[in-house]
Formats: sequence, C-alpha cells, structure tokens
Amino acid sequence: MMCQLSQAARRCPDGGLDGVEVLDAIRSAVRDGFLISLRFTANEFIEGGITEEDGIAIAKIHAASGLVDCLNVSGAANWTKAGVAETVPSMAFPAGRFAELAGKVRRATGLPVLHAAGVGDLATANFAVSEGHVDLIGMTRAQIAGPHMVRKHLDGKDEEIRPSVGAGYCIDRILRGGDGLCLHNAATGRETVLSYNTGTAPGRLKIVITGAGPAGLEAARLCAGRGHSVTVLEAQSDPGGQVAYAARIPWRQNIIGITRWLYARCEALGVSFRFNTYAETEDILQLSPDVVILATGGMPEMGPISGGEALGHSVWEILSGEVAPKGEVLVYDETGGQSGPTAAEFLAAAGARVTLMTPDRMIAEDAGVTNHAIHLRNLYAGGVDIWPDKRLASLQRSDGRISATVITEYGG
Ligand SMILES: Cc1cc2nc3c(=O)[nH]c(=O)nc-3n(C[C@H](O)[C@H](O)[C@H](O)COP(=O)(O)O)c2cc1C
Ligand code: SF4
Repeated sequence: MMCQLSQAARRCPDGGLDGVEVLDAIRSAVRDGFLISLRFTANEFIEGGITEEDGIAIAKIHAASGLVDCLNVSGAANWTKAGVAETVPSMAFPAGRFAELAGKVRRATGLPVLHAAGVGDLATANFAVSEGHVDLIGMTRAQIAGPHMVRKHLDGKDEEIRPSVGAGYCIDRILRGGDGLCLHNAATGRETVLSYNTGTAPGRLKIVITGAGPAGLEAARLCAGRGHSVTVLEAQSDPGGQVAYAARIPWRQNIIGITRWLYARCEALGVSFRFNTYAETEDILQLSPDVVILATGGMPEMGPISGGEALGHSVWEILSGEVAPKGEVLVYDETGGQSGPTAAEFLAAAGARVTLMTPDRMIAEDAGVTNHAIHLRNLYAGGVDIWPDKRLASLQRSDGRISATVITEYGG
C-alpha cells in the first residue's frame, strides 16, 4: 500500500494535479465519516524553503477546502540530510521543538492538530496538549523503545516505561533498508525470538554479573525480574560502561538515559552492586554463584599499524579525560562508527586543532543519517579537517612531536 501511495503521489504532478485535487480524489474514494489527516511541514527552517507564513497559508487552503479532518504538523526540510535529522529529531534537539509551530497552525485553521517530533515522554506530551498547542501527540520512538507504554501508564507503572533516548538507531537503520531495531531495547524488532515479558523463573538462582555497562545492567534487570538473586561487580565507581564515554559531548548526553534507566530498574528489583571492584576469579567464586555472566565489554583496538601504536591513545582515554592532548591532534578512525567523530568533537571543543582521518570514503560511514548530519555540522563548526580515504601506516616520534605516515587508500 505504501508503495502504491508513493507511486500515485509521484504521478500526480505529471498528471497536472495539485495537492487539493489529490485530496479531492481521496475524499471521493472513501466512505462518509472516514477521517483524512494531512501531514505536512509548516516551516522548513531553510533559506528559500517553506516559511512559517507559507506553512500557515498552506494549512488555511487545506482547511478551507473541507477535505481534511486533521492536520499533522511537522517541521524542517526533510529533503535534505540535515533536515531529516530535525524531522526525526535526534538527541541533539530539545523535546517537542515544533509543538509551538503546530499550535500556530491549530489556531490559524481551527482544525484538530496532531504532532509527532521528539516528544519522548508522557509529561511533555501532556504539556503540549494541556497548553493547547495540539490535540493529539504522536509518540513513535517512545513506543519503539517502550512498548506497552500506554498500558504501563494506566497501571500506574510509569517508571517501568523504557524511555527513548533519541539515539536514532531505529530510523537510521530503516532509512538504509534495515529492520527497525532499538539501541535501548534489544527485544524490539526481534519479538519472535525475544520476549518483553520474561515471566518468573521456576527456581531462584544466585547470579553474578561482571560489568555494569548496558549489557551487564540489562542482564541484571532481566534476571532479577525473573526472581533470581543478582550481584553485579563493576571495576569503575559508577554504572554506564562505554555509554558514559559516548555521553561526554553535549549533544549526545541523553544516551546516558539508557544506563540510568537500567540501573534504576535494577535498584528497584533489588540487584546488589559492588563498584570499584575489578573482579578476579576468587571474587566471583567467593559469592558461590550458580551462574556467572561476563559482561565486561571489549577493549580499544589500537592497530594494526606498522609501528608506533604505543604513541597513540584510545578514544576511551580521550573521552574519560585520562589524556588531554593539546595543539594539533590526529584522530584516526577505522571503525566507521560514532566514536571517532565523538572524540574529534570533544577535542575540538577543548581547543585542539583536529584532523579526523579515516580509510573509509567518509567519516562515520556506518552512522545513519540522523546522527551523521549532526556530527558533520559540529565537526565543521569546530574547524575539524576531515580526511577520507587515508590509512595510518605508522607513528614516529621526531623533534619532540609525533609524526604520522599516511597512505592514500586508493594510491596516489
Ligand atoms: C522507525 C520509524 C519509521 C517511520 N516511518 C514514517 C513514515 O512512514 N511516514 C512518516 O510520515 N513518518 C515516519 N516516521 C517519522 C515519525 O512519524 C515521527 O515524525 C518521528 O519519528 C518523530 O517523532 P518521535 O520523536 O515520536 O519518534 C518514522 C519514524 C521512525 C522512528
Ligand atoms: S533506537 Fe534510539 S531513538 Fe530509536 S527508539 Fe530506540 S532509543 Fe529511541
């Protein structure tokens, strides 16, 4: 159906139809009382694009036509990559950013208005409705991360609703033809093999988990929820693991909501935590566990290069503040993920002159559009030089500085 709709929409301008004529055709094709809602951008926030004034004028035309029952107001120019990152707002944007715009359309047309863009929690949704900005709030990612949100709310269990943190992993995958998985909720999109409701175990086991990062915390939450006795041993003084590092740049701070929520749920379920405990075999055996879960995560990969690995530092060392390089800094990223650009942004904000280099055709090649666009925006704003197609061959110390030998991935 989606495919037929989009093909039909594409044929409309060729056939000389404008938006109102299309709606006319839809109205005459449906039974009386069938609700038609029109989704549109009321302000593209881009030079030469639809302004708020245009958006309200467009809305008034549709309202006067009598062909639509409801307007679904959005914002930003999602025909650009930066605009997609705003329409399905990542954690870089404040909650409910276009709610006031929706309210202006509502007041100008008198039509019921629906709005869905970055309203991730029920308090914000309630505020947007009670302040009269909108009649209906759409909460897409809130329910991808927190399925059964409405039932949990009605049962008075808001604290059990897993919040969407705006990581954009779901939409970024979908826009590349992948399935809609969630960074926060491993069961979403895998419902046939993973259940949201894991029930109660037939017997109570003693479970020891090493690592209070997202994997260890999720394992602890699930095990404690099934009635087991759970102890988590963590080397650091706080929970979070690598998520705490990812949250070190301002626009990605909300990602810490993943481990915050998991930790709060673990505490509510009676999980016991021992921080500042680097677990050795004896520490684990002393607890006489029935089951041990190792969730200590990976280690940074520093190679392979043909010499000088020890002169470099890992993203962990940079983002934890353990190492704070000044002056000219080369950030080299072979992973294609978000850790390289995150480190580059972090260093540039601290005053370093940063070059971000990758053997890939572009930086953060594996990051989807809603995250990639924000990294690029911030890297350009921070004056970071971006070097694609370059591979780090080796590092040497010379004249009190570290020099890098770089080869071009495709010759030349
Ligand atoms: C996985 C996913 C699929 C989406 N598919 C559509 C779609 O087919 N049509 C559409 O107009 N918006 C689509 N959207 C955008 C949402 O309708 C909504 O505008 C956006 O996610 C922002 O709202 P939220 O913060 O509640 O997620 C999609 C969003 C997500 C996350
Ligand atoms: S992937 Fe991120 S943005 Fe998408 S639903 Fe999960 S937490 Fe929300």
